[in-house]
Amino acid sequence: MQKLFFITILAVGTFGALTADFWCDCTEFTSQTECNNVVDCVWGTACAKKACKDISTDVCDTLGTCTINNSGVCEDSKACSTYEAAKPILCMIQKGNCAAASLTPNANGKYTCSTYTAVADCSTLPTTGCSNNFISEEYFCWLNASTNKCDKFSTETCIGAPMDVCADLGCDASGTACKAFTCSSFTSEALCTVANDGIFGSQILCKWDKTTSKCGERSDVTDYTQDTCSKNTDGGYYWSNDACVACEDDESEDSSSPYLLASLAVFLTIIQ
Ligand SMILES: *[C@@H]1O[C@H](CO)[C@@H](O)[C@H](O)[C@H]1NC(C)=O
Ligand SMILES: *[C@@H]1O[C@H](CO)[C@@H](O)[C@H](O)[C@H]1NC(C)=O
Repeated sequence: MQKLFFITILAVGTFGALTADFWCDCTEFTSQTECNNVVDCVWGTACAKKACKDISTDVCDTLGTCTINNSGVCEDSKACSTYEAAKPILCMIQKGNCAAASLTPNANGKYTCSTYTAVADCSTLPTTGCSNNFISEEYFCWLNASTNKCDKFSTETCIGAPMDVCADLGCDASGTACKAFTCSSFTSEALCTVANDGIFGSQILCKWDKTTSKCGERSDVTDYTQDTCSKNTDGGYYWSNDACVACEDDESEDSSSPYLLASLAVFLTIIQ
C-alpha cells in the first residue's frame, strides 16, 4: 500500500503539473541536509533508512515497514494480531494491510487487528457483511452510500471514497464528496509543498506564488536547491548533477514486501 500509485491526473489545467509517484531510496541522497530532511532517512557516514524506533509517531503508521504498537511506540511492523486501532478501517490503513478481527470493540474500546481472508468480489457480499472486507492492499469492500450495495473502493485515491472513511484515507472530507487535498487548499508558503491524493496515492508538487500569496500547482523544480529538493517533494526527488530530479521505480528492492518505501520514480504528467 505504501507504493505510490501511478495515476493520470485529469483536469489539472492548461499547464503541466509535476507529480511524485514513488519515494526515493535514502541512499539516493548525497548530502546530510538533503538526507535528514526526509522523515525516514538519517545521515550517518552516508544516507540510510532510519530505524522505526527513531521515526516520529506522526508518520510512523504511514510508512509500510513501521507501525505504532499498542504502547504508542514506533516499531518494525509485526503480525496484524499484535495491533489494535481506534476504528476498524484503521487496522487496514495504519497497521498495514490488516483487518479488524471483529466489529465489536475490545476491552480497551479499540479494535483488535488480524490478518484477513481476501474476498474476490465485494458485490456478492450482503449489505450487513460488507464493510471490513478486503480484496488486497489496494481495494476494500464498503457500503456504497448512494446504492446501499457492497462495492469495491481503492485505498489509493480519494475520488469516490466513502465519506465515512474519507478522512481516514488522508483525504479531504470537508465537502459533500470525498476528494484529494489540492495545492490551492494550502494557505501558507510553509505548507505549500505537496498535495497528496490520500496517504497512499500520488502527490502533486505545489508552488507558492508570492505575488498573489496563493499556492498552486508546480510545473518545474528549477528553483529548488540541494537543501530544499528532497524536503519540498516529500522525499520524491533528489539532487543529482546540480538539479532536483524525480526518483525512479526500483522494483528489485521491493520484491519482499507489498509496502514499499524503497521505490522510486516520479512521472511528469503533462495534461493539456
Ligand atoms: C512497544 O514497543 C516497545 C519498544 O520496543 C516495547 O517496550 C513495548 O513492550 C511494546 N508494546 C507492546 C504492547 O507491544
Ligand atoms: C456507488 O454507486 C454509484 C451510483 O450507482 C456509482 O456511480 C459509483 O460508481 C459506485 N461506487 C463504486 C466504488 O462502485
